[in-house]
Amino acid sequence: MLGQLYDCEPTLSDEQVVDFCRQGMLVLERVVPDEFNRRAMAFLDDYPDNRVDEILAEEWFMDAVIKNPQAAGAVRSLLGKDFRLPLGMSNHRVKTPEAAQGWHTDGGSIYTPRLDYLQVFYYPQDTPKELGPLEVVPASHFARTKANYMAHYDRIKPGMVTALPAGSIIVTVYSIWHRRSRSTAAGLRNMLKYNYWRTSPPQRDWKTDPQFDFSRANFATGTPLFEGFRDRPYVAEMFCWLCGLGEFDFVGGQGWPIVPETQPGVQQAGMPSALSRGPA
Ligand SMILES: [Fe+2]
Repeated sequence: MLGQLYDCEPTLSDEQVVDFCRQGMLVLERVVPDEFNRRAMAFLDDYPDNRVDEILAEEWFMDAVIKNPQAAGAVRSLLGKDFRLPLGMSNHRVKTPEAAQGWHTDGGSIYTPRLDYLQVFYYPQDTPKELGPLEVVPASHFARTKANYMAHYDRIKPGMVTALPAGSIIVTVYSIWHRRSRSTAAGLRNMLKYNYWRTSPPQRDWKTDPQFDFSRANFATGTPLFEGFRDRPYVAEMFCWLCGLGEFDFVGGQGWPIVPETQPGVQQAGMPSALSRGPA
């Protein structure tokens, strides 16, 4: 059934959840066994349209891809319990070689610390750079620009061409900048795209670590997209929202989370008290 609720064990740690907030993406390489990748490819040859909701009626596909333990475990960590499974499925099936697509964020993108849904990509076939895999700009989910400017950009230095083997899954924040990269080989590229949805209020119920020191966590994205460390408060805002702490007001200056190089045991000014570890 489309859009049923699903629950499973969360797989991401505090550090990995922070990392997802920083990068806006998580690459799970070769997590779907080849048997199911081959089966998916055969199915897509029978259903060559851009919209392939029919594949969501296949139990083997639901188990191997949509409920894939590593992918669903990451989704469970980020969207909480009883998340909603995809309501539809798109296949980006392209005859290659083909020019690069324009940079874009998908329609309906908003900029928010909330994480109410995830956009996920599944590679049913080996997708080397010659077949034009997805290219993404890590950490760009917080970078605002006008769509008509973005479409004119050519190479973006921190852009990452996600050449990956069959069975790989990429979990992303919906508003991340992306495009189909240029392909040079003759062939047919398939890539499935679908969304999962939150149904539970956010809370810190992933694989938490009581020793994780939020005062010293690194919230920097490491990309040149942001001026004056301004990415760090954006990342912290999303992380606090995921922890169920609501809005986080950045105090500015050297307040948390600007300077992670603090002494062990020192709680930074401006850090929400709920993230404090308390006395050791
Ligand atoms: Fe897109």
